[in-house]
Amino acid sequence: MANDAFAVSDARPSAVSNGALADPFSPPADSSLWRKNFLLGAATASYQIEGAVNEDGRLPSIWDTFSAKPGKVLAGDTGAVACDHYHRWEADIELLASLGLEGYRLSIAWPRVMDAAGLPNRKGLDFYKRLLNRLKEKGMTTSVTLYHWDLPQHLEDRGGWLNRDTAYRFADYADLMSRELAGTVDAWATLNEPWCSAYLGYGNGHHAPGLADGRFATQAMHHLLLAHGLAIPVLRANDPASQKGIVANIGRGTANSDSAADQRAAHLFEVQHNAWILDPLLKGAYPQDLFELWPGTEPLVLDGDMQTISAPLDFLGINYYFRTNVASDGAHGFRDVPLEGVERTQMGWEVHPDGLRDLLIGFNRTYRNLPPIYITENGMASDDKVIDGHVDDTQRISFLKRHLAAVDQAIKAGVDIRGYFLWSLMDNFEWAFGYERRFGVVHVDYSTQKRTVKRSAELVAKFLKERKAQA
Ligand code: FCB
Repeated sequence: MANDAFAVSDARPSAVSNGALADPFSPPADSSLWRKNFLLGAATASYQIEGAVNEDGRLPSIWDTFSAKPGKVLAGDTGAVACDHYHRWEADIELLASLGLEGYRLSIAWPRVMDAAGLPNRKGLDFYKRLLNRLKEKGMTTSVTLYHWDLPQHLEDRGGWLNRDTAYRFADYADLMSRELAGTVDAWATLNEPWCSAYLGYGNGHHAPGLADGRFATQAMHHLLLAHGLAIPVLRANDPASQKGIVANIGRGTANSDSAADQRAAHLFEVQHNAWILDPLLKGAYPQDLFELWPGTEPLVLDGDMQTISAPLDFLGINYYFRTNVASDGAHGFRDVPLEGVERTQMGWEVHPDGLRDLLIGFNRTYRNLPPIYITENGMASDDKVIDGHVDDTQRISFLKRHLAAVDQAIKAGVDIRGYFLWSLMDNFEWAFGYERRFGVVHVDYSTQKRTVKRSAELVAKFLKERKAQA
């Protein structure tokens, strides 16, 4: 199972400059972004920003354990302090609101709100109640993800996502959260990026819990999707007014040549990246090609599971970052063939907005029951520096502009896309890459916790102000 884009390496990507880099952020007059009901927001995730990992009864998560192991995270960084959002949440919400952003996507740390016996941890719950109430006071649309990778360690100790029981524990957790937080959440997403949880967590070991076996990846995926499917009716029963969905990261695979073998390789790349998740959710079956790519990895599926997993959704969250160029590996798979001379980000990821447009249009054709879409993450990392109190993140401004244009093109081609969340509100703990990779539209100085609004955020705020002022 090869997917090099997620391998931790110190190698510095070459950012190739592009003529559009200096352009300010401003969508053209005919862009759907000017529609007031197109939601523009920002996203974060609990482990990446909260810190306070030992406070108020929070239990350890798999990311506390994983990041403590030498060599797993760049520079030995951990989420122990992160952006100290657990203590600074009020100022962070003020900042979010001051930018005029209309939506906020956050995640709940499961180990903060439930103990090992499944009983509520009131102090942890109160944190999210205060946070969500304040967001509602500010008029914000709230999008809450239940699982953004911080599995309680006690569940991993019993097999984590390899243990079917974890899916039932997740449904209990979804039950508690939706009973406690009903009325403050506009949209519930069960899982963030099951591809990353299953593939990076259990398939190649780049993420927590760090296991590496193809059969583990497909079984973990099945239990993740089952967890999602079990949670949906629970969320519907407890909080009927809210929207329910899931967030998937999607990957564009392009063929290195016109040869049939390379075309097949690109197809297989997208099967394992997209259809592996979207087919069970939207067609109620795993794509058979997946098991040609990864022979012998069929998960154990019990009667009724696929019906549970394919319960109708109110929305599908889509996270998009880059494309991968591939060729046949000469056997039954693909290998990455990084393109030369293309624009890349601090992550080494290629900037390829057309990939987002093409995938969205493709899904709209492939899945007749495709739910309304929110782009729940899109953004890029750059080595941003504060100079004289300012951060001039020119590449990000251009990146956002081009990706929003791609979203607009998909809308014009008939895809029902209702909103877009920037990844991320602020620089944060970027998983295996620690604090070095800066994805925020707000800069964080980790030694002082000072926040500095980057130029990209100023321009988005300016646009939102203009949009609001329009008749
Ligand atoms: C996504 C994750 C998010 C962040 C971005 C850069 O895969 O959902 O937490 O790390 O990538």
